[in-house]
Amino acid sequence: MNFINKKYVIIILSCVSFCCTNALYKPTLADVEEGKKVFPDLTIKQLNKAVVLYGNRCGSCHKLYVPSNVTSAKWDEMLPKMQVRAKLNDTEFDLIKKYVKSKSGHSN
Ligand code: HEC
Repeated sequence: MNFINKKYVIIILSCVSFCCTNALYKPTLADVEEGKKVFPDLTIKQLNKAVVLYGNRCGSCHKLYVPSNVTSAKWDEMLPKMQVRAKLNDTEFDLIKKYVKSKSGHSN
């Protein structure tokens, strides 16, 4: 089984983990600073809780959308619909909103 060499496997695995980290960005203090422009009371604790919720609740029907690939206006439009679909309570909704909108696309 020489044709599946180790290098090839490593390249594939790093692509997969790159894609995942991308959709589910791991919150850093820099993200908190950026998010504070939209949510002045944002904390790293909230973002850390939110990333788990986002991964668990938002990827069952479709792929997880990369927060920065969706504009802020689009998030505002979709989030209330998705709250119903994912059966989020208001606390969960608030956390997920902070997570995705801290990084939403700035194209409009
Ligand atoms: C029960 C299934 C289901 C769950 C759970 C769900 N979604 Fe969706 N989502 C959909 C469907 C179906 C659409 C198609 C568009 C529509 O409803 O208007 C969609 C569309 C979207 C879109 C729009 C994509 C686009 O480019 O038009 C976004 C963004 C989104 N969902 C985010 C989320 C988030 C965030 C969560 C978690 C809070 C979530 N979804 C949970 C079913 C789901």
